[in-house]
Amino acid sequence: MNTTELRDLVSRIAADPQQWRPLVRFDTAERHFEQLWRDDQVDVWVISWANGNDTGFHDHDVSSGAVAVVEGELVEERLVVGGAPRVLRHRAGETFDFDASHVHRMHQDAAVPAVSIHAYSPPLWRMGTYVVEPDGTLRRQSISYAEELRPVEAAA
Ligand SMILES: [Fe+2]
Repeated sequence: MNTTELRDLVSRIAADPQQWRPLVRFDTAERHFEQLWRDDQVDVWVISWANGNDTGFHDHDVSSGAVAVVEGELVEERLVVGGAPRVLRHRAGETFDFDASHVHRMHQDAAVPAVSIHAYSPPLWRMGTYVVEPDGTLRRQSISYAEELRPVEAAA
């Protein structure tokens, strides 16, 4: 699926709360993932974000993706070499998409929890997380999609 199709898919799901509402959970301190769908074309996740939840910088390996925010607000940061990250705010009712070249960090900094619908194609299998060493060197770690993303501390 291309990014337009992914965006259409998350928009359709977002408009039908009966599909995603039962998968929302705010009783944990960590981001909560529930897989809504997975086939050989696409996987779809419902993610519940509590205050302070943070993915750290990551990529989605060979997958493109789209996100619909259905409750609250999420902050997306894009790495800028030699400058401060570019900050985008995505509010309930908004969608965005990205191709497989995209590196970003998502976090939630508001008192009100957030919920988002994510679709990836091809389905997520591997991801990359990024660590900035104390000397500024960027390092990528390949991880399984099943490992929860959280900011990785630079090695001491
Ligand atoms: Fe992501």
